[in-house]
Amino acid sequence: MVLRAPILFIDHTPSHWSSLNDSFCGNKKRQSPIDIVTSHVLTDHNLVNFTFLNFSSPHVFKTIENNGHTVKCNLVKNEVEVSGGGLSETYSTLQLHFHWGDTEHHPGSEHLIDGHRYPMEMHIVSLKKGLTVEEAKADPEGIAVLGFFINATDDGDMSEPWSNLTSYLMNKTGKDPAVNITDNISINDLIKNVDLTKFYRYMGSLTTPTCNEAVVWTVFQEPINIHKNLTQLFPMKTGLNNVFRPSQIRNGRQVFASPATPLPHSPWCYDDHHDDHCEYSSLKWHELPQSHCGKKSQSPIDIETKEAMTDKHLNNFTFTKFDDKHTIKYITNTGHSVKCVLEEDMVEVSGGGLGHVYSTLQFHFHWGSESHGSGGSEHTVDTKRYPMEMHIVNKRKDLTLEDAIKTQNGLAVLGFFIEAPHASKNSGGSDHDETNPTSTTTSNMEPWKTLTNYLSKINNTKSKVDFTEKISIDDLLGNVDRTAYFRYNGSLTTPSCNEAVVWTVFKESVKVDQNLMMMFPSQTKNHNVYRPVQSLNGRKVYTTAGSSVHGPIIRFLLLACLCHFFL
Ligand SMILES: *[C@@H]1O[C@H](CO)[C@@H](O)[C@H](O)[C@H]1NC(C)=O
Ligand SMILES: *[C@@H]1O[C@H](CO)[C@@H](O)[C@H](O)[C@H]1NC(C)=O
Ligand SMILES: *[C@@H]1O[C@H](CO)[C@@H](O)[C@H](O)[C@H]1NC(C)=O
Ligand SMILES: *[C@@H]1O[C@H](CO)[C@@H](O)[C@H](O)[C@H]1NC(C)=O
Ligand SMILES: *[C@@H]1O[C@H](CO)[C@@H](O)[C@H](O)[C@H]1NC(C)=O
Ligand SMILES: *[C@@H]1O[C@H](CO)[C@@H](O)[C@H](O)[C@H]1NC(C)=O
Ligand SMILES: [Zn+2]
Ligand SMILES: [Zn+2]
Repeated sequence: MVLRAPILFIDHTPSHWSSLNDSFCGNKKRQSPIDIVTSHVLTDHNLVNFTFLNFSSPHVFKTIENNGHTVKCNLVKNEVEVSGGGLSETYSTLQLHFHWGDTEHHPGSEHLIDGHRYPMEMHIVSLKKGLTVEEAKADPEGIAVLGFFINATDDGDMSEPWSNLTSYLMNKTGKDPAVNITDNISINDLIKNVDLTKFYRYMGSLTTPTCNEAVVWTVFQEPINIHKNLTQLFPMKTGLNNVFRPSQIRNGRQVFASPATPLPHSPWCYDDHHDDHCEYSSLKWHELPQSHCGKKSQSPIDIETKEAMTDKHLNNFTFTKFDDKHTIKYITNTGHSVKCVLEEDMVEVSGGGLGHVYSTLQFHFHWGSESHGSGGSEHTVDTKRYPMEMHIVNKRKDLTLEDAIKTQNGLAVLGFFIEAPHASKNSGGSDHDETNPTSTTTSNMEPWKTLTNYLSKINNTKSKVDFTEKISIDDLLGNVDRTAYFRYNGSLTTPSCNEAVVWTVFKESVKVDQNLMMMFPSQTKNHNVYRPVQSLNGRKVYTTAGSSVHGPIIRFLLLACLCHFFL
């Protein structure tokens, strides 16, 4: 998209944009365009009720100009508006312009859909109402761009509006390039029958310098089909070729879709017998494209406690903002798990022998079935499978997500087993919890009730709701011992199974009521969402010093001894 071309544009190839003055093009946080990978898109039910004011008016096109980078149509000021559709405010539409390929029929849309580049893309640019261009560029949601793909077909539209518009295409003349548009063309004439309820949404940037990260993007799913004789006129008549920016890294950004947008089924599942049919059950994950699932350092594993080697470097963790009750942004049913996504750049983990500061991205759960006593943890300890496992996923703060998943310690996942409060008594042994002052049997179930209350709102696969209740990660973890844990090098436990994870598996389990745990399979209709344990292949598992699986008991005994000493 183009707002205002820089006056001096010496080397205008996109790879040099980051060296331009005041440029944000080198940022990697939320640049545009991107490749929209539809299997990763989530449905957001707030993305409805778009309102397009004066889109059908034939009197809003004012001038057209070739600015050397694109062809831009300037609209009559303060007539055209966009609101609703999940936008937080009303946006006032300024201009629309185009991106295209070349006369050799190379496609030139900016956004890609599952790697597919359309022949062209039209951008309708609006500023938050009341803001100047400069103010809008400084606001993270200051600019709203509507992106429409344009498809070149043999039988596409050659009707008046597009013929009229393309008749104005011109090369850059230099002096006063803006030409008045005298034809009666409306925006809807150009959009035609594209279904405006089907669109993707993500947060990004301008796609031309200075690439300000100020854009709420709407990319419509259906293309405008135009006859190829007309799309060819863009490179031919303007002398401009390949006026699009290459796609930028997603850096963990989530793309959402409006409820009407069809989303594909995930190509993988855990077990073909339980889930609805899928092409790749967990035994076939290694056959997926770009899969690491067949490699040698995979997760989860069975942790043999006798084999775990004590490592004195495994010190205490530092958890930043784990006590903050405003960090959970939304909760989603991914179809494979329930995931709580955190606000960006707030929560952090360091220490614990990790050697780096990690940003906490999300936490999610693994579980079994609704039948009583069903196991569903991913890791097992001496072959014991716990009812559930919670994973807190962290990315090295100094890396983008794209780099982190290619780096051996790019990710750190904290795994917590979850079981019912009285479960430990059934497992035998000498622990008499009733006399144990650190027993967690009295742990507070309110945060877990709050969390599981959301499950009924995300019954549907890929649905998402904003998290408005105030609970912190600490609230969920309760007083579980976070000093006793196992450590090993492993992988993500879902495709693509990248071997980029430093695993921490805590010894003590978080205690959650049985009926709350049951809500995960019953509300989401997903069962046995855990990967089978993988071979160690010679990897070592390390353990924190001086503790055992019965960490709390030891602490209690230690406390008892100390008390005895002082008495
Ligand atoms: C969309 O409009 C309908 C009908 O006016 C209304 O009931 C609904 O609450 C609106 N939804 C959103 C998310 O604004
Ligand atoms: C835009 O919409 C408003 C409100 O419907 C109307 O009064 C105005 O005439 C329209 N402007 C144009 C140029 O059609
Ligand atoms: C785009 O155009 C091609 C060629 O005519 C056609 O095969 C294809 O179905 C079109 N795509 C869409 C999504 O309409
Ligand atoms: C620009 O367009 C004019 C009028 O169509 C034409 O005479 C001229 O040769 C073109 N110049 C270039 C550089 O294409
Ligand atoms: C455009 O519309 C106006 C008023 O609706 C009309 O007077 C004018 O003739 C139209 N122009 C063209 C080129 O059709
Ligand atoms: C993980 O791998 C790195 C690099 O090979 C190594 O330095 C580190 O000790 C390993 N950590 C564990 C827990 O095995
Ligand atoms: Zn653009
Ligand atoms: Zn997980």
